[in-house]
Amino acid sequence: MHVAVPKETADRERRVALVPDSVARLVKAGATVAIERGAGVSAGYPDAQYEKAGATIAADLAATVSGARVAAKVQKPTLAEAALLPEGCVLVCLLAAHTSADLLAALAARRITALALEKVPRITRAQSMDVLSSQATVAGYKAVLVGAAQLPRFLPMLTTAAGNITPARALILGAGVAGLQAIATARRLGAVVSAFDVRAAAREQVMSLGAKFVASELVSSGAETAGGYAKEQAGDEQARTLAAIGAVLPEMDLVVSTAAIPGRPAPRLITAAMVATMRPGAVIVDVAAETGGNCELTRPGETIEAHGVTIMGPLNLPSTTPGHASQMFGRNVFTLLQHLAPKNELTIALDDEITGAMAVVHDGQVRA
Ligand code: NAI
Repeated sequence: MHVAVPKETADRERRVALVPDSVARLVKAGATVAIERGAGVSAGYPDAQYEKAGATIAADLAATVSGARVAAKVQKPTLAEAALLPEGCVLVCLLAAHTSADLLAALAARRITALALEKVPRITRAQSMDVLSSQATVAGYKAVLVGAAQLPRFLPMLTTAAGNITPARALILGAGVAGLQAIATARRLGAVVSAFDVRAAAREQVMSLGAKFVASELVSSGAETAGGYAKEQAGDEQARTLAAIGAVLPEMDLVVSTAAIPGRPAPRLITAAMVATMRPGAVIVDVAAETGGNCELTRPGETIEAHGVTIMGPLNLPSTTPGHASQMFGRNVFTLLQHLAPKNELTIALDDEITGAMAVVHDGQVRA
C-alpha cells in the first residue's frame, strides 16, 4: 500500500494528516509513504523526521500522489488538487460531505473512493479512528487557554503578600468531548467550574471531573439519540434552558460554549440580553462559532466586545495547537488504515459498519 500525504493548502490550516510516528508505524506494517515537501513544517515536523521514519519526500503535489493507493489529508482538496489524484485511489480526509457536491461528483467521475473522516460511526470499535473526538479534545483545551489569556484576571486562587486573589468562575456549556476537556483544563488552571448539558449521561461525567452541574432538573434521558448525540430542544425546553443559564451567567468570569447538534445550527444558549447581565471584563469563548455560535452576538472568526464582555468566535482551534492535534489526527488515520488494510492490502468493504458509513464516494457513485 502506497500512502501519500499532501501539504495542506486551506487558509489557517497548520495540521498534517500523518506525523513521523504514524509514518514509522505504517512503514513497519509494510506500507510505503510519500510526504509532500514541507507538509509537516507548520505542525513542527520537518522533512528530515519523516525521512528518518522511512518516508520519501516529494517535491510537489503531483509527485506526492503519483502511484498512491491512499491520499491522506486533513482538509478536503480543492477541485484542482483532486484532479491530480490517481484514478481509483482512496482519499481520506475531513470532506464536509454535505457542502462538497462538486468535489464528490468530480471524485466519482474519476472512480476515486472518498472516505469522510467526519462520518466515523460513534461506536466503541471506531473510537480510536475518530478525528472529531481527538480534535474536539484539542479545541476544548485551547478554548480555555485563549479565554484565560483574554481575561483581565487570574483563574486560580492566590495567596500573596500583595493580597489574596479569589478564583475565577468558569461555565462550560455542552459537556461532550470538547466541553469535558474544557472543564478539565479550567479546573487544572484553578477556576471554580460549573457546566451544563442536556444529556443525562453528561451530568455524571461533569461531576466526576470536579465541576458543579447547573440545572440538573433540565437533563433527560430522552435528550439523546441512539447514536449518543443530543437532539434539538423543543421551544419550552429551550426557554427553561435559557432561564437556567441566565440565572448563573452574572456570576461568571469565563464562559466556554461547545454545545452542538450534528448537522444542525448550534443551539442558541446565550442571548444578547443575557450578555448584558454579565460582569464587565467577562469573556465568552464560543467554540460553536463554526456552526453559527451558541451566543447570539458571536461573529465567527472574530473577537468583539459588547456590554463590556469579550466574545470570541475562534475558527479551527485544533489547528492552533498543530503539533499534538496532528499527532492525534495521524494516530486516528493510522488506525483507520490498519482497519482498511490489515495485511497491507487495502479493500473497501461497504458492508463493514465503519467503512460503509465513511464511504461517501465509491465505484463511481456518490453515496452521501
Ligand atoms: P457534540 O460535539 O455533538 O456536542 C457537544 C455537546 O453539546 C454534547 O454533549 C451535546 O449533548 C451538547 N448539547 C447539545 N445541545 C445542547 C443544549 N441545548 N444545551 C446544552 N448542551 C447541548 O458532542 P460530542 O462531543 O461529539 O459527544 C456526544 C456524545 O458522543 C458523548 O456522549 C460522547 O461521549 C459520545 N462519543 C462517542 C464516541 C464513540 O463511542 N466512538 C466518540 C465521540 C463521542
